[in-house]
Parts: sequence; structure tokens; C-alpha cells
Amino acid sequence: MTKTLRIGIIGSGGIAGSHVAAYKELPDVEIVAVADIVPGKAEQFIERHGLAGARAFADHRKLLELDLDGVSICTPNVSHHRTTVDALRAGKQVLLENRCPLRWPRRSK
Ligand SMILES: NC(=O)c1ccc[n+]([C@@H]2O[C@H](COP(=O)([O-])OP(=O)(O)OC[C@H]3O[C@@H](n4cnc5c(N)ncnc54)[C@H](O)[C@@H]3O)[C@@H](O)[C@H]2O)c1
Repeated sequence: MTKTLRIGIIGSGGIAGSHVAAYKELPDVEIVAVADIVPGKAEQFIERHGLAGARAFADHRKLLELDLDGVSICTPNVSHHRTTVDALRAGKQVLLENRCPLRWPRRSK
């Protein structure tokens, strides 16, 4: 039996739309949640991309409390460190857009 992968999207700007389009090409992938720091933006993204049933959050840490297999991090570079460390600590697989700052493990708190 095939498992459906449960995915969350953190950051719902330009490149997040490309992630969603790619996930939609795959069988057995469900986008279950979207987080964006701008209030209301995740909700608009969910509606625009037809992600029926997906939940919206303004705080990525709330999204990470869900039962997810992985997250796409689609935030600006400056927030890659925080969101990535939080996601890894929450036990999620991470697909990170672009790079994490060098020496980021040292900065982990
Ligand atoms: N692979 C590519 O071809 C490609 C192209 C463009 C951008 N990028 C990369 O993708 C990333 C995002 O770029 P973009 O063009 O989508 O930017 P964008 O500004 O369009 O979208 C970023 C979104 O993240 C949200 N956000 C910011 N901080 C957040 C946080 N802490 N938690 C949740 N949401 C937060 C913003 O409100 C915004 O909606 C960057 O790292 C960029 O370099 C990659």
C-alpha cells in the first residue's frame, strides 16, 4: 500500500507556487498546510491554488505541530535559518529554497 506524503509549505510567495505545481504532478502527495507570516496570505494562497482542506497559519511553528512528512521552506533567505532549524527539530524532512547561511548550526539556540 502506498503512503500519502503530507507536506506543509512555509512562505506563500512567488516560488511557493512553483513548489505546489510540482507537488501536484506527483501521486500520493497532499499539501495539508501553508504558513505565511503576513496575516491572511496563507489563506489566499490556499484558495488560489485550490488546496482544499489545507490549513493556514501565520506562525510556522504552529504548522510544524501537525503530523507532516516534510515541509517546503519558501521564505526569503533571511528567515531560512530559523524556519529550517525549527522544522528539523520538529522531525520534518526539509526542502529548502536556496541556501542556509554558512555556520548556521552554531547559531542554533
Ligand atoms: N528556485 C528558483 O528559481 C527561485 C526563484 C525565486 C526565488 N527563489 C528563492 O525562494 C525563496 C523565496 O523567494 P520568493 O520569490 O518566493 O519570495 P516572496 O517574497 O515572493 O515570498 C516569500 C514569502 O515568505 C513569507 N515569509 C517571510 N518570512 C516568513 C516566516 N518567518 N514564516 C512564514 N512566512 C514567511 C513572506 O510573507 C512571503 O509571502 C528565496 O530563498 C529565493 O531566493 C528561488
